[in-house]
Amino acid sequence: MTPLPQRPRLGFFVSHRGSNMRAIVSACQVGDLNADPALLISNNRGSAALDWAAENGLAHLHLSPKSTGSDEALDQAHLDALVDADVDLIILAGYMRKIGPKVLSAFSNRILNIHPALLPKYGGQGMYGSHVHEAVIANRETESGVTVHLVDGEYDTGPVVDQAKVPVLAEDTPEDLAARVLAQEHQFFSETLVRIVSGEINLDDLG
Ligand code: GAR
Repeated sequence: MTPLPQRPRLGFFVSHRGSNMRAIVSACQVGDLNADPALLISNNRGSAALDWAAENGLAHLHLSPKSTGSDEALDQAHLDALVDADVDLIILAGYMRKIGPKVLSAFSNRILNIHPALLPKYGGQGMYGSHVHEAVIANRETESGVTVHLVDGEYDTGPVVDQAKVPVLAEDTPEDLAARVLAQEHQFFSETLVRIVSGEINLDDLG
């Protein structure tokens, strides 16, 4: 792959709330992260992330298999939108669908996902949101955490870029743990992106 530019353009994929996207946009705005938010794509017309993008001047698109007609058409529509917006790096921040083969191939080693656990534990289809934290507590784990990883054609299986640990306390409810992990996500995703953009982490060494 061509090296990332000094100031890459970010394309976000978000299905629901979008708090990780907002944390990253904020890191760009205050100058902590040398990158430009370029586009948000959501599969969910009613997502809070789309509302936020509309209110905050971030280019945004609703694209789903239903709106485009098929998974193949969706993949092509994603690729066209990403190329049109000149996106260099794709950020999955709470995106609950697989990425199609055309985008995977055009953005090889340039798609990152965040997951609210220490992969390979507690990942895969159905392991999202509160399901993850309920399983961690049910198994009496004493630590959980955050994983940023490269995306492949499956759920939560690509090479790990970096992880941060978060303690699980004996009295934690899934909501308690979710809140502690999410706070760590907001910090850790931006910090990891800073290391990627600065060249400290080379994504092509991982994929
Ligand atoms: C985050 O906790 C993220 O790690 C998780 O969805 C949440 C999205 O929150 N992603 C997964 O579980 C992926 N398997 P947000 O929309 O507020 O950023």
